[in-house]
Amino acid sequence: MSPEREPIGVIGTGYVGLVTAAGFAELGHEVHGVDIDADKVARLRRGEVPIYEPGLGEVLASNRERLNFTTELGPALERARLLFVAVGTPPTYSGDADLSAVHAVVEALPQPSAGSDGHALVMKSTVPCGTGTAIMRRFAEQGKGSFAYVSCPEFLKEGAAVEDFRHPNRVVIGDEAGWAGDAVAALYEPLGAPIVRTDIASAEMVKLASNAFLSTKISFINEIANVCEALGADVGEVARGMGLDERIGPHFLRPGIGFGGSCFPKDVTALKQLAGNSGYHFQLLTAVIEVNELQKRRVVGKLHRHLGSLVGRRVALLGLAFKPNTDDMREASSLVLAARLLAEGALVRAYDPVAEEQARALMPAGVEFADSALDVLDGVDAAVLVTEWPEFLALDWDAAAERMSGTLVVDGRNALDPEALRRAGLSYEGIGRR
Ligand code: UDX
Repeated sequence: MSPEREPIGVIGTGYVGLVTAAGFAELGHEVHGVDIDADKVARLRRGEVPIYEPGLGEVLASNRERLNFTTELGPALERARLLFVAVGTPPTYSGDADLSAVHAVVEALPQPSAGSDGHALVMKSTVPCGTGTAIMRRFAEQGKGSFAYVSCPEFLKEGAAVEDFRHPNRVVIGDEAGWAGDAVAALYEPLGAPIVRTDIASAEMVKLASNAFLSTKISFINEIANVCEALGADVGEVARGMGLDERIGPHFLRPGIGFGGSCFPKDVTALKQLAGNSGYHFQLLTAVIEVNELQKRRVVGKLHRHLGSLVGRRVALLGLAFKPNTDDMREASSLVLAARLLAEGALVRAYDPVAEEQARALMPAGVEFADSALDVLDGVDAAVLVTEWPEFLALDWDAAAERMSGTLVVDGRNALDPEALRRAGLSYEGIGRR
């Protein structure tokens, strides 16, 4: 079959699945998106985009004739031999990945009709190393041994997912050296990225190790920032000086109030847990997680230092999403910060240009929501930049200073211009920044 016309199935239409479906439709493939959420499928069929992801709506709209959405696995299985799986694998209480949605797909897959082409399950969801082998064993038990299995982990970043689909740094494909790995490689070939072919377990590990390494980089620079703060160095200059070393590189050296999102916190814990389950204590990751937890709370210490007791103090949170250009609130640092501030007796006001609806469902009771960046600052003793949305970087700080009753601004992302704030009569406090 010509890869240009390979129909594909995508099971799960969340951030990863929907972007994958849209991306392959844009490359000219007929795509069958499957989701158990009937309401979401109805919205997708009406042309609505259920998540906030820049550029995604446009790609879906301009490729509608190739995109089909359904709650049934049947049509995908009938039309497509490659079935991408992009369902959620959230953490369980034990820190392991919850694979129930993956298992549900494996169980629900019907036996392919006799004489039909071979099918392959292509795993995009982040799963523990060893999952592919377990799924193939299950296929054999169920008499569905004609299903091939490919691990094809996803590396896209929320907020830049469409561009990341079009221009991946690499595509990792792990299989048993059969037809399915070649078919997946042919699908990705037009993107021109290096294709890394491995066995299944190694492909699963590339994903976990990559996320763990990037998280380690962030916790590392956060600790350097904290030490800079104590010693009078400027972490921005330190990171620039470090990043020019090709072996270190400039990326993921931005200190802040900790990493969040649907991947890093979950995947670091899952890898630590996975190692532990097999008898190895992954000490480094234990520290990466702990540093991240403490980093979210450091802002409270900064507020104390300037304001003393926080009882009755009004604090504004600028931004709530775990990073800009997304409405995703999963593991957002704002959730921990708001809970800590309320526990200290502070009055918490919050504003996010996009994530308010999602935030309302998750934020602790008592947080007051405002309609704009200036409104949230009305009468507050201090403001904390939590998410570096462009609108906060362009804020009129003279107008902001007039609205605030205090003068303290804590820049939790080192993203603001300290001089502009000082000119407006505000006191600036960054993370390891002079
Ligand atoms: C991440 C990985 O980058 C991606 O490859 C994987 O597929 C999913 O997880 P994502 O969670 O969308 O993507 O966002 P990313 O831009 O990587 O940021 C993750 C978190 O780290 C955010 O909270 C961000 O604010 C924080 N971060 C990132 C830092 O604090 N400092 C940095 O230097 C970079």
